[in-house]
Amino acid sequence: MAIFSDNENIQKPLKLERDKKSENLESKEIGYDRAFENNIRPQTLEEYIGQSALKSTLKISIEASQKRNKQIDHMLFYGPPGLGKTTLASVIANELKTKIKITSAPALERPRDIIGILMSLKNGEILFIDEIHRLNKVTEEILYPAMEDFFLDMTTGKAQTVKTLRVPLPRFTLIGATTKAGALSGPLRDRFGIIHRLQFYTIDELSQVISRTAKILDIDIDDEGAKTIAGRSRGTPRIANRLVKRAADYALVKANGQINKQVAKDALDNLHIDESGLDSTDREMMKLIIEKYDGGPVGLETIAAALGEDSRTIEDVYEPYLLQEGFIQRTPRGRRVSPEGYRLLGYKIPSGYTTGQQSLF
Ligand code: ADE
Repeated sequence: MAIFSDNENIQKPLKLERDKKSENLESKEIGYDRAFENNIRPQTLEEYIGQSALKSTLKISIEASQKRNKQIDHMLFYGPPGLGKTTLASVIANELKTKIKITSAPALERPRDIIGILMSLKNGEILFIDEIHRLNKVTEEILYPAMEDFFLDMTTGKAQTVKTLRVPLPRFTLIGATTKAGALSGPLRDRFGIIHRLQFYTIDELSQVISRTAKILDIDIDDEGAKTIAGRSRGTPRIANRLVKRAADYALVKANGQINKQVAKDALDNLHIDESGLDSTDREMMKLIIEKYDGGPVGLETIAAALGEDSRTIEDVYEPYLLQEGFIQRTPRGRRVSPEGYRLLGYKIPSGYTTGQQSLF
C-alpha cells in the first residue's frame, strides 16, 4: 500500500498509544511527532475542546446509534488541516467502544487496497479516510455500494463469461475527512449522512488546549503564557501544541523553565511568528503580492512558483487562515492583499485601491 505523507500526518495507519483499540493497517514505525500527537490526543468528547456545535450533534448521533444498536451514519468532516478531524474520528470510535482503521486516499491506489480494508472490518467498526477528495474513480465506485448497501460488487471471469458477485460486508461507518469539500464528487458526498465543517478555534479554546497539553507533558505554563501562545496559533490546535513545545524548550534554555507571558512572547518572536500568528512564509507571500503584483489579483500558480512552494500547500495550509483573518482575498482572477493585509505589514494602501465596484477610501 502506498504511503503518502504531508502535514496532516495521518496517512500512516497506526497504533495509538493510549487507544489500544486502534489498529495498524501497516506496521511502520511511528514518527516522533506522530507519537507526540497521539499522547496528547483527547479520548472522549468530554476531553475534546472546541467545536461545540459539532460535538452536540455527535453526542445525539452516538447515543441514538447505541440505543438502536446500529452503526452510526457515515460522516464527512471538512475544514483546514490541524483542526482535529482525525482526533474527532478516534474520539467517536472510543465513545462507541469500537475499533477505528485509519488510512488516506493516496494510500488506496489499487482496488485491492480498499477491498482488503473493507473486508477486514467488523460490524460497527469505523474506517477513516483522510483526504477523501483524492480518491481515484475506481476506488470511489467500489465505495458507493459498500457505503449504501454494505455490499462489494465484484466481477469474475472475462468477456462473455463475466459474472457479477455481490459480496456482503459488515455494517461499518466511513468517516471521511477533507480540506476541500468542494472537490468531492456529488455521488460520494451524497452518501454521507452527517456532513460537518470544523471551525477555527477561539483564543480561549486554544488556551484550554495548550494548558491541557502542558499538563500532560509536564510543562510549566501560566494562563497568560497559554493565552499568548494561543493568540499566535492561527486558530489551530495542532499549531498550538507544536508552539507550546517550542516555548518549553526556549523556557528551559533561556528562562527558568517556566512559560509566562514574556517568555512565550520571546520564544515566538524567536521563531518569527508574529502577534497575528503569521510566519515568514505568510508575510513573504503577502509582500510578494504587494511589491511585485501591485497587491494583486495574481494567480495561485504564479505565487507558488515565485515562493518556490507547492501550490497545494499554499492553498490548503497557508491561505485558509489568511482568508479567515481577512488579510488576503480570493477573486476570480486570483489572490489579492486586503487593506488589513497592507496595514499589517506596514505598507501604505495604494490610492486607487478598490474592493469590487466600490472605492474603499
Ligand atoms: N489537542 C488537539 N486538539 C484538541 C482538542 N480539540 N481538545 C483537546 N485537546 C486537543
